[in-house]
Amino acid sequence: MSMHSLRDQPFLVEVRLLRDKVPSWDQYPIDLPVTRSLETIAFHPRVTFFIGENGTGKSTLLEAMAVGLRFNPEGGSRNFRFSTRASHSQLDRFLRLSRSARRMRDGFFFRAESYYNLATEIEKLDAEEAAGPPIIGAYGGRSLHEQSHGQSFLALFSHRLRGDGLYLVDEPEAALSPNRQLALLSIIHDLVGKGSQFIIATHSPLIMAYPNAWIYLLLDDKIERVEYTDTEHFALTRAFLNDHRRMLRRLLDDEAL
Ligand SMILES: Nc1ncnc2c1ncn2[C@@H]1O[C@H](COP(=O)(O)OP(=O)(O)OP(=O)(O)O)[C@@H](O)[C@H]1O
Ligand SMILES: [Mg+2]
Repeated sequence: MSMHSLRDQPFLVEVRLLRDKVPSWDQYPIDLPVTRSLETIAFHPRVTFFIGENGTGKSTLLEAMAVGLRFNPEGGSRNFRFSTRASHSQLDRFLRLSRSARRMRDGFFFRAESYYNLATEIEKLDAEEAAGPPIIGAYGGRSLHEQSHGQSFLALFSHRLRGDGLYLVDEPEAALSPNRQLALLSIIHDLVGKGSQFIIATHSPLIMAYPNAWIYLLLDDKIERVEYTDTEHFALTRAFLNDHRRMLRRLLDDEAL
């Protein structure tokens, strides 16, 4: 096998739910829509998106995958072992993650929900006596708490992620202006060019537009692969921006608008 074709392989090939290992189907997290309908999800070698309504289980699935890959459930690289609240589900016990022969040089689990805790952990570790250089150096050098939410997000993405790695990302749009979401797209593209693979849960019609990706839509009774322009996110955003007054009139039931 040539180096080129190895580099084209995903780190993470697929995730499968070991259905015969599941003891009971009526308890969290197995009772979630995502697990009830999960058989196998194959990952794109570059970027895979999970989309779907609030509460379908995107974060639960991503977190279980992160735990299965030995990432810290609250976010970070494999070196982080902090946990402010041991709330992660046991779903990882029923998942089989298939990896290729490619070796990961980098990895990160990024989640908007507990990003604050990650920033605190970095400060704490850097305040302790340590042999190596300060950890914050890898994040651009400036405390993540002393930057705005969005600035510190982008600092992490542009400084800490080195490429040739697997990145699990939950709702990166949470802190980003539309303009910065586009900036994130180009950072992702850059890291993809350096051999990275992303698995991203998102609601953002801008972020899920990344080309050369697979989008999985999580529904109540199934998981299906969809084209970007067939998503509700795309259709709804387009309809709104095409004629926002008309949509607001209908939505708010106010002819004066
Ligand atoms: N510890 C728990 N016990 C029981 N149910 C839980 C627990 N944690 C989360 N849930 C439920 O699991 C469901 C899925 O949550 P999850 O955060 O995975 O959804 P999501 O698809 O990421 O949603 P969103 O788009 O809002 O981020 C939610 O209905 C949530 O209330
Ligand atoms: Mg979520």
